[in-house]
Amino acid sequence: MVFDHDVVVLGAGLAGMRAALEAARGGVDVAVVSKVHPVRSHSNAAQGGINAALAPGDSWELHAFDTVKGADYLADQDAVEILCREAPGDIIEMEHMGVIFYRDETGKLGTRAFGGASKARTYFVGDITGQALLYTLYDQVLKAGVRVYEEWFATTLLMEEGGCRGVVALDMLHGDLHLLRGKAVIVCTGGMGRVFEPSTNALICTGDGISLAYRAGAPMMDMEMVQYHPTTLKGNGFLLSEAARGEGAYLLNGQGERFMQRYAPNKLELASRDVVSRAETEEIAQGRGVDGCVLLDCRHLGRDVLLRKLPQIHELALDYADVDMITDPVPVRPGMHYIMGGIKTDVKGRTRVPGLYAAGECACVSLHGGNRLGANSLLDTLVFGRHSGADAAAYAKETPRSSGGELLLATEQRRMQSLLERPYGGETHARLRLEMGQTMDRHVAVVRDAAGLESALRTIRSLQERYQRVSVGDKGRVYNQALTFVLELGFMLDCAEATLRSALARTESRGAHYRTDYPNRDDAAWLKHVLIVYGQPDPEYLPVTITQWQPEVRTY
Ligand code: FUM
Repeated sequence: MVFDHDVVVLGAGLAGMRAALEAARGGVDVAVVSKVHPVRSHSNAAQGGINAALAPGDSWELHAFDTVKGADYLADQDAVEILCREAPGDIIEMEHMGVIFYRDETGKLGTRAFGGASKARTYFVGDITGQALLYTLYDQVLKAGVRVYEEWFATTLLMEEGGCRGVVALDMLHGDLHLLRGKAVIVCTGGMGRVFEPSTNALICTGDGISLAYRAGAPMMDMEMVQYHPTTLKGNGFLLSEAARGEGAYLLNGQGERFMQRYAPNKLELASRDVVSRAETEEIAQGRGVDGCVLLDCRHLGRDVLLRKLPQIHELALDYADVDMITDPVPVRPGMHYIMGGIKTDVKGRTRVPGLYAAGECACVSLHGGNRLGANSLLDTLVFGRHSGADAAAYAKETPRSSGGELLLATEQRRMQSLLERPYGGETHARLRLEMGQTMDRHVAVVRDAAGLESALRTIRSLQERYQRVSVGDKGRVYNQALTFVLELGFMLDCAEATLRSALARTESRGAHYRTDYPNRDDAAWLKHVLIVYGQPDPEYLPVTITQWQPEVRTY
């Protein structure tokens, strides 16, 4: 079937729903397409909070400086200024929509400290901030009359005369492909965490939208900048929020030392994430770890703080590591958490492809540069989801409706059919996905070098070749996840390859990209972004926008 809308949003996390709401406020007909029910989107997993300079003594300029420094000067400062100036308005709007943020003993909105920040400016709902925001926005999206196609999986974008005019999507429940035409499409499909194994990301974070946009001609930018979060649970890599350290938890090595004194004497455990993750990696490499981990010690916070402000991570540690954080330190290690890079956009969310927008983790505006500060990602989703929704609505109003796309729909139907008909018994998506994830975690983690990156790129290219022989175990139509897993793997391999090509190109160390063969930051050569363009063997480069903060030596 064919469905017509003015604006089609891919993804129903915070960026997607905020974009949809703003586009609907702009007076156009909006649809959201999501491969999961909206409140199962990965924004649901965001724990610690959302930043804004709202409190007396704080200012948007301080927030912006912290963000630029945290980014190791790779962020575009015009975009950071917008993020930090507009943050207070977005928090207050969410509060007015119904988010029950924590209030302090005076009854005012209360904050907690977060890494790399010169002021405590993180607003929060216990350690389920993303969930609280997501449910509230979903109410608003429904109230605004946005049509939600839930459990619909996007397989390709409709391109006409170089512009994006819609999407083909699989209705997973019934197994049918449909064409959704839109005058503008906003990609808000989140990150690609599962290209790495393990990751804090949900299993659905497979870089779908990044790959779809890339193949449609929108470059991927800063893909080498992959954030390893310092406190992921031993074994499965679940996130234990930075909020624990914000509330005062320590990191200890195997000798019981607060080792961050050696690496960040001023900010200690609340240095930026890249710094803390590198310190942990060094402690473990020097033999001062505990079974490949360090310890997160919350005992001195006491039962009341843990159960009131950090109940989810207390429960996660208990259920999955058998550790009661009230009485024992919990083993943690750096784990893949976030990508600073993504689909290159301007501050309105526009990509290089007319009619194609992106917002949220899949986009690179660029706000986070070499390292994102904790609690700036939820903010990014709201501020730039809003901007992209507003601009897409305006664009849609002056763009005629497409009447094409049926040919593409038929081509996609044949492609799915031939995938289903591939004889079973060749390669399996599960084997390839695991090999990809483990390769990336081994060579593209906290510490990198040319030999490791080149070996990983060879592996990914051989996986791309083997991917052509992957068969789909389930031949049925209804909720065929074997089919969508195969499609996801194709998206992930695109993202993995771009990450490696970017990481090899950047011959310096900056933020999360630490290369032992180029251990220093090189501002003379590398105050620029790396862009990977589909079909082009060499990267493109773009200078970093600097407005008021010149690069300085970065210490915490
Ligand atoms: O640690 C955390 O709660 C994660 C927050 C973030 O990535 O912004």
